[in-house]
Amino acid sequence: MTERVIKRQEILDAFNFRRAIKSFDPTKKISEEDFNVILEAARLSPSSCGIEPWKFLVVQNQEFREKLIEISPGAQGHLPTASHFVIILSRTSKDTRYDSEYVKNQWLSVWGVSR
Ligand SMILES: Cc1cc2nc3c(=O)[nH]c(=O)nc-3n(C[C@H](O)[C@H](O)[C@H](O)COP(=O)(O)O)c2cc1C
Repeated sequence: MTERVIKRQEILDAFNFRRAIKSFDPTKKISEEDFNVILEAARLSPSSCGIEPWKFLVVQNQEFREKLIEISPGAQGHLPTASHFVIILSRTSKDTRYDSEYVKNQWLSVWGVSR
């Protein structure tokens, strides 16, 4: 098999393997090197016009995680057990209008144009 065919199969294998884990083995930790790659992949994700209307908040503080459990019905098993817990903060629709300060600043820094 060529290297390209092996790579294709590796990608399909990864998608077949993946599933939504509901709780984790708390004794296992993602290494900082691996976690940095995951965060970098998130940081490099594409967005419309490159406006990147998000921030990634890594929550490692146990006390804060416990507070989050009360308001996160979808993360009851994840918050107490996940090696790393990332909240994706999204800008509001008001903030992502074409004429908002945020979008105008992004246009300037990404495209180098002011509108
Ligand atoms: C947009 C989105 C939101 C989701 N929210 C939750 C959630 O709050 N809690 C949870 O345990 N799983 C959540 N899931 C995981 C889904 O339950 C899971 O992807 C689906 O059941 C299919 O299973 P699989 O990913 O293992 O193939 C979410 C998935 C998506 C795509």
